[in-house]
Amino acid sequence: MKVLSIVGARPQFVKLAPIAEAFAATDHEHVIVHTGQHYDKNMSDVFFADLKIPAPDVHLGVGSGSHGVQTGAMLSAMDAVLDEHRPDWVLVYGDTNSTVAGALSAVKMHLPVAHLEAGLRSFNRRMPEEHNRVLTDHAADILLAPTQVAMDHLANEGLKERSRLVGDVMTDVCFRVRDAVQDKPFDLPFKQGEYLVATIHRPDNTDDPEHLAGIIEGLANAGRPVVLLAHPRLVAKCAEHGIKLERPDGSLHVREPLAYPEMVQAVLGSAGVVTDSGGLQKEAFLLGRVCTTLRPETEWVETVDSGWNVLTMDVSKLPELAARPAPSGERPTPYGDGHAADRVVAALAE
Ligand code: UD1
Repeated sequence: MKVLSIVGARPQFVKLAPIAEAFAATDHEHVIVHTGQHYDKNMSDVFFADLKIPAPDVHLGVGSGSHGVQTGAMLSAMDAVLDEHRPDWVLVYGDTNSTVAGALSAVKMHLPVAHLEAGLRSFNRRMPEEHNRVLTDHAADILLAPTQVAMDHLANEGLKERSRLVGDVMTDVCFRVRDAVQDKPFDLPFKQGEYLVATIHRPDNTDDPEHLAGIIEGLANAGRPVVLLAHPRLVAKCAEHGIKLERPDGSLHVREPLAYPEMVQAVLGSAGVVTDSGGLQKEAFLLGRVCTTLRPETEWVETVDSGWNVLTMDVSKLPELAARPAPSGERPTPYGDGHAADRVVAALAE
């Protein structure tokens, strides 16, 4: 079997890591195509190096642009690549512009498409990721779902026959890295358990200057030091609107985005997480740290139902929310056992 994976953005490299490892243990051929959606070293290369992912076989180098320009550049570059490789499966990941472009290129060429992390829904039609997920699920031939909730969404949309519950591949990689870094604290000027880890990058949070200024002010007044891992979009929008990230009182410790193992170390050493990222909400849960999510809804509803994650758009509540204790009792395991990637390979081979 020959499988061609299409990735392009940071969260997709994390999902690719366990899949590439699972393929490496078989005789199947695995081709990796990087669209170039994320191109900064710390948004791309370090993930390949740290997570031991083989270098991409093809790099499209599309870079940034409006949604139409970026997605269109990927579409026009993919035909020749798919024609050359003629894989048995095209595997697309998650919900970015690289996902929908990869899926659409492949169906147009009558190549079978598999969607990893299928069935997630926020039901928020303002999110570009929501369009990408829905369109990709309906274009794909096999839908590899991470959770029972995702399976239920797919069934509700008439896609039950094509859906398989495989578990969550991000759990595979999160547990593997956690075990490797467990006793190595990340070097920060704060005591273990004293600080919060924060990331903000969603257009709905960054693109309105007043809203963004409110979020940054809220983080600076969260009642604990905040390690803010600044995504390029956040840095660009703050510069554009004259919003200062550095604070004389040191309440915000601003850093560039971290490599994956460092991120896991930083979360393990923290009192909790404040974010609008999908992946980080779930990583906080998997690592046993409380999360406050600055969004009105989430795809990872299990983190909220179990009490580990709270959704809010009101940053003035951060001091109270970020200091809350972890829920008592055993943490549920809705995201599988850390062996989802093997089930993905088996489902495609079958
Ligand atoms: C994308 C995904 C989002 C995912 C996120 C993770 C879509 C629609 N969104 O959002 O689902 O959660 O990645 O990070 O696909 N930039 C750089 N260097 C880079 C990459 C981006 O400077 O390596 C800057 C560019 O100015 C770009 C902006 O960041 O315009 C946004 O990047 P883009 O890939 O368009 O979307 P993300 O916000 O990263």
